[in-house]
Amino acid sequence: MKKIAILTSGGDAPGMNAAVRAATRTALKHDAKMLGSMHGFRGLVEDEIIELDSSAVRNIVHRGGSIIKSARSDEFETKEGRAKAIRTCEKHEIEGLVLIGGDGTMLGAKIFADEGGPPAVGIPGTIDNDIRGIDYTIGFDSAVNTAVRAIDQIRDTAEAMERMFFIETMGRRSGAIALASGIAGGGNVVVVPEQHTEADKVADRIIADRKAGATSLLVIVAEGDDSGGAYKLAKKVKERVGIDTRVTVLGHIQRGGNPTAQDRILATCLASRAVKDLLEGAYGHLLGWRNSEIVRIPFAEAETTTSSIYDGILCETGAMIT
Ligand code: F6P
Repeated sequence: MKKIAILTSGGDAPGMNAAVRAATRTALKHDAKMLGSMHGFRGLVEDEIIELDSSAVRNIVHRGGSIIKSARSDEFETKEGRAKAIRTCEKHEIEGLVLIGGDGTMLGAKIFADEGGPPAVGIPGTIDNDIRGIDYTIGFDSAVNTAVRAIDQIRDTAEAMERMFFIETMGRRSGAIALASGIAGGGNVVVVPEQHTEADKVADRIIADRKAGATSLLVIVAEGDDSGGAYKLAKKVKERVGIDTRVTVLGHIQRGGNPTAQDRILATCLASRAVKDLLEGAYGHLLGWRNSEIVRIPFAEAETTTSSIYDGILCETGAMIT
């Protein structure tokens, strides 16, 4: 294999640049050229292809975002769009693809391969940590650390003013960031999209915690929770508990910033292995980290999952999860 292309797709995640760098360096080391498809799959559809050489990926291991940009492509979701993408691959003699993204990207990878796209290997890049069968996606650790820093700072002011705070984390369908930052930030209640939330139960818990002497009260709300998000839930709970309440939506700060060391290492190991797999003729799978090992998961099995790995820990720490 002499030419490989790489792309970053879907919501960007800290660590994507470290993956682009490692994949490029590994390809060059094995005498293969690395191309970058700009804006994810859109670059394949619209023929936005650049060459990545060693200097193009210099000084990016520590940077958030993606130097080759990331996007969700509507056109790639159509058969015509994918046919255009195949023509671009043929034109540039792309023999293999490294795809970095979340569950949507892996689904696109499977369909593209079935329709005649080049051999591909996926790497999980999403802050949501919602891919079944692997422990961590690239970007999750950075996003959780950002959320925990924010929660710690909010706790200071909540404690000083004896207030209740509702802190909204990202995750339309995934409660992973809320759960992990709820554990690390010592939240009283964590609400996630994977379970039904009843405002009355949250209120009961807050009343009980205040009675037991809690001065600062923190409710961590995943963006996609069925209560409607932090503002709506805060309004309902406040009506019952009557405590001075504020809401903070963390939003896209969780997607930016320097990746943590863990995300850089994960990205580097997986991206380097992805290129080696392609060079050795192994493809059609997602690479992930599970129990301190790199595992291969066929694209067809790369589904989203709930975040149940945290349930036990949360119960033991005393936070209520709903
Ligand atoms: O999938 C990553 C993610 O950050 C989710 O946590 C969030 O719900 C969504 O993307 C936000 O997407 P956008 O940046 O398009 O608003």
